[in-house]
Parts: sequence; C-alpha cells; structure tokens
Amino acid sequence: MQTPSGYEVIDGRFFPKDWLDVIFSPSFPYRLAHTVTGFFVTTSFVVVAIAAWLLRRGQSVEEGRVMLSMTLWLLTFLVPVQIFVGDQHGLNTAKYQPAKLAAIEARWDTERSFPLALFAIPDPAHEINRYAIEVPYLGSLILTHTLDGEIKGLKEFKPEDRPPVAIPFFAFRIMVGIGFLMLAVVAASWWLRYRHSLFDSRWFLALCMAMGPLGFVAVLAGWTTTEVGRQPWTVYGLLRTVDSLAPSLRGGDVLASLLAYMVVYLIIYPSAVVIAARLVRKGPDVAPVASAPIESGRPSAPVHVELVQEGKSP
Ligand code: HEM
Repeated sequence: MQTPSGYEVIDGRFFPKDWLDVIFSPSFPYRLAHTVTGFFVTTSFVVVAIAAWLLRRGQSVEEGRVMLSMTLWLLTFLVPVQIFVGDQHGLNTAKYQPAKLAAIEARWDTERSFPLALFAIPDPAHEINRYAIEVPYLGSLILTHTLDGEIKGLKEFKPEDRPPVAIPFFAFRIMVGIGFLMLAVVAASWWLRYRHSLFDSRWFLALCMAMGPLGFVAVLAGWTTTEVGRQPWTVYGLLRTVDSLAPSLRGGDVLASLLAYMVVYLIIYPSAVVIAARLVRKGPDVAPVASAPIESGRPSAPVHVELVQEGKSP
C-alpha cells in the first residue's frame, strides 16, 4: 500500500492483475531488508545489554563474555548493513513517495544543492522551518548521492496531499540518531578489544546496558516515519485515509476494535517483560559437570598396569 503495483481499478474498485507484482512492489525489498535487519539489530542489543548486566554483577561471567563478544561481532556486520539499506531505502522513497521524503527532510521548496536540517521546528502555516540548524550540501549528498542533486519540495504538492511534517521529521531523526549511536558502540567495542579491556571497562558495560531498549525505540520511530509520512493516503496516491472506512462500518466499531487490541497488548507486553526480566535475573543455566560414578567390587577384566622404569616396561 506504500508503493502499490500489479493492480487495476475497475469501477472504483481495486483488482489484482499480477500477484507477484502486488507482492514485489517497488519498495518491498528495501522495507523487508531494513525491517528484518532492524529486528536482528534490536534483539542483538538486548543480548548485549543482558551480557553487560551479568558482567557488571559478576554473575555467570563466562557466559556473559561469550554473549557480549559474539553479539558485538554480529553487530559489527549488522549495524553498517542497516545503515546502508536505510540509505538505499531513502533513495527509493525519494523516487516513489516524494511528498513523504520532503516531509522527512522538511524541505518546502524544490532545490538543488540543498542542506541537511539537523534540527528545525517546521511551521506548515507559513511553509518555513524555524530555528533550523543545517549543514550545507549534506542533504543533496545523502539523498541524491551528488552535491548538486535536487528533491521536490512540499510546495509542489497541494496542501491536502501533504503529510504532516513535524512527526516524520523528528521520528526519522530519532531512528537515524540511534542508528549512528549503535555504530559508535560497535566502533568502541573494536577499540576495547584492541586494548584487551572489552569485558572490564565499566563505562562501556553501562553504555551497553543503556542501549538495551534503544532498538525498540528506533523500530517504532521508523514505523512512525513510514506511516505518518504516507498520509493522507492509505493506498499511496490512490485511496485517501478519510475514504478508507467501509460504508458499513461505524466509527464506534473501529474504536471498539482498537480498544480491544490495546487491552490485549497491555496485558501481553507487560507480562512478557516481567517473564523476560525474571529469566534474565536468574542468569543462564550452567550445565552440571558430569562425574563418573565410582563403583566398588572386582574389575571384570585384568587391570594392565604399565610401570615405566628407565624407559622400559617390565
Ligand atoms: C542509521 C541509518 C538509518 C537510515 C538512513 C534509515 C532509513 C530509513 C528510511 C529511509 C525509512 C523509510 C521511510 C519510508 O519511506 O517509509 C526507514 C524506515 C524504517 N526504519 Fe530506518 N534507517 C536507519 C536506521 C534504522 C535503525 C537502526 C532501525 C532499527 C533498529 C530502523 C528501523 C526502521 C523501521 C522498522 C522502519 C519502517 C519500515 C516500514 O515499515 O516499511 N532504521 N528507515
């Protein structure tokens, strides 16, 4: 529904023309790769946080070391991949969802060689950014991979076709900010390995613990960017959100099912957190060392004892 394809519209209704085209829409590979890598990255930082917690407490130290070291090696690969795929995803968004990209970057005018706004308060009423902190040329470089590249500004779109600006703008910066923070943690781990102090550096272990929840924040921020950025459309460019409510459904029905979802999730999530916290506090199970039972009685076969005296057996 973000970049619809493989359909035809007959009498105002959508029909699939080619199922493979419906599934493999233009943004599908980027979304799949970025989301799945995002989940691996998020989970890995949870493992890293637990390992750091064990090491700081001096509990299950051997297991904690293996968890920390192996997962940081995995993240050495996954975090750069996530940033690379995110960058490619951005180019795809510029091509297929230009109004969303203009909102993400809070660009009002179509410009060449445009800067990157690190911070700004977008003001849609006056179509400007207030208190902007910008880096010249960086926007063009990141979004078009050239110094004089151009992107469409929001003014190119009718006001009723524009997404809200502030939410995608800030959500995107939270996601990318966390992505680069993750890269910094991975880079710090290389340095500490080199110094042979990966497991004893208390500030690094505290940082790893603090990173535990941040993957979830990045995922939610990415999702917010994607979904708020696609407004005012449910099916991008084809079906408006305001027209998406089936005529037979009343607003009250939608509200009731939404509330039911919220109740279920408000039970599931806190329960999962409590159970997971209990498991973490207990620490990993340590396999008992198998010891051979000592049996008494005569041996069933003669015992051959080798006495080595001056290099010769008797
Ligand atoms: C640091 C560099 C990053 C860049 C350049 C980047 C870029 C992007 C872009 C361009 C989008 C798509 C917006 C759209 O057109 O719909 C997106 C969405 C998303 N990002 Fe990131 N991202 C980065 C880091 C991360 C990290 C670290 C995570 C999670 C651990 C993450 C998770 C997500 C998720 C879950 C989505 C929503 C995908 C969807 O629903 O289709 N991103 N990101």
